[in-house]
Amino acid sequence: MTEVKMKLNGETRSASVPPETTLLKMLRESFNLTGAKLGCDVGDCGACTVLVDGMSVNACLMLANQVDGREVLTIEGLATVEYLHPVQEAFETFASLQCGFCGPGVIMSAKALLDENPDPTIPEIRDALSGNLCRCTGYTKMIEAIQDAARILRAKEHA
Ligand code: FES
Ligand code: FES
Repeated sequence: MTEVKMKLNGETRSASVPPETTLLKMLRESFNLTGAKLGCDVGDCGACTVLVDGMSVNACLMLANQVDGREVLTIEGLATVEYLHPVQEAFETFASLQCGFCGPGVIMSAKALLDENPDPTIPEIRDALSGNLCRCTGYTKMIEAIQDAARILRAKEHA
């Protein structure tokens, strides 16, 4: 077994897992964080996207022990009961999702983009979502929501 200690959604957490365990499996099975989804399991769909040290990664492709000593943020760490992240609010306002399976991964990719680039162009948003497959929506409402969230975040920054 391998001991993995990390900052997970703002709290120091640890788990003891077999060395071949992926980050996705550890999040879902050791911590019951089931927001990141198991889609393709080979890095193609982005349903498992989480942030490691602020960078979006496919959790199905990382081993759990690769996040030892690092910061991991999942969709569960974005919101509290009283607070939704502006990207989440905008996805709700714009009705950006249909079945929702891709949603946690798309939202985490959008957060990583806006943390890095507060005023992205549409091609930059498309590029940021290029690893997230959505079979339902055609992406247009997601892009509108991400632009809106970007406007809100910039306004907050300058308030
Ligand atoms: Fe990880 Fe599809 S489940 S990329
Ligand atoms: Fe169904 Fe994206 S909303 S896969």
